[in-house]
Amino acid sequence: MKDPDLTAGLYQAILDRRSIRRYDPQGIDSASMARVQQIIEAVEPLVPENGFHVLHRPGMLVDKDFIRSMGAYGYIVSPPHVIAPYATGERLPLLDLGYRVEQIVIGLTLHGLASCYIGTLGREPVVRARLNLPQGSRCGALLVFGHTATSLGGRAVNAFIRSVPKGDARLPEDQVFFEDSFNHPCEAPEFLQPLITAGRSAPSAVNAQPWLFLWRDEALHVFVKRHNPKYGRGRGQDYRYYDGGICMANISLAMKALGIRGHWELADESSYAAPQHPESMQPLAALRLS
Ligand SMILES: Cc1cc2nc3c(=O)[nH]c(=O)nc-3n(C[C@H](O)[C@H](O)[C@H](O)COP(=O)(O)O)c2cc1C
Repeated sequence: MKDPDLTAGLYQAILDRRSIRRYDPQGIDSASMARVQQIIEAVEPLVPENGFHVLHRPGMLVDKDFIRSMGAYGYIVSPPHVIAPYATGERLPLLDLGYRVEQIVIGLTLHGLASCYIGTLGREPVVRARLNLPQGSRCGALLVFGHTATSLGGRAVNAFIRSVPKGDARLPEDQVFFEDSFNHPCEAPEFLQPLITAGRSAPSAVNAQPWLFLWRDEALHVFVKRHNPKYGRGRGQDYRYYDGGICMANISLAMKALGIRGHWELADESSYAAPQHPESMQPLAALRLS
């Protein structure tokens, strides 16, 4: 039997969660840390054959200078807890990582803990070497978490970042949702709206929001824009996979919260037939509701 408060809380957590850059320097207590461990262990895969690991050392995994050196917007200072989730395996590792790590993020939110991703794709080899991650493993982002800063200065920084125009705003539904074809942008039909809202609420690197949704032939196809100027040049463009995975996780979590059943068919599966789409868009998966 589902606990209605918990499921309502889960959906709300997906919508309400925001990145926090300044933390209470006091770390979380050991009971909360045990809960975090349970959240990590409960993560569900998108690609089960990939390995998923979360590096977490008591004390600081990375220091302030390291975080700064990654160009982490320069705002994240003295995070009390940092974990490095990474994947091994060949099949869509970044999509899978985003999908798994977002489940941790929402689990933390549900338990009153703040968090922020710190993107690593621009400096993945350095991060791998520094954290001693296996050769060939993928780590698209570190995850900082803890209690939100209560100091005046910390609260001011968090509020300031929130106030930066478009820093955490989401694209309107009728710019990312399409019915039948990409020629028909519109609002989602009522039965799909909670899932689209959850997907649109996903965090993304530099708030790029690369996702596009196409409802066609009884399936919800998730696409990402192949090129996103906000990600910059080079490897940063791969954030579209990580962010796409985060978006898909939000949809899966919303389904769980709302008791909606269905499964993902990934675009690299031989059974997957992508609907017609512009070359600038890349299909990731289709959600088939049951
Ligand atoms: C993969 C990824 C990498 C990110 N990297 C950083 C970062 O290095 N520094 C930072 O301050 N925020 C980072 N963010 C947070 C985004 O800027 C944030 O999610 C986005 O602006 C939307 O705001 P919100 O999460 O508050 O809704 C990252 C988010 C994602 C998903």
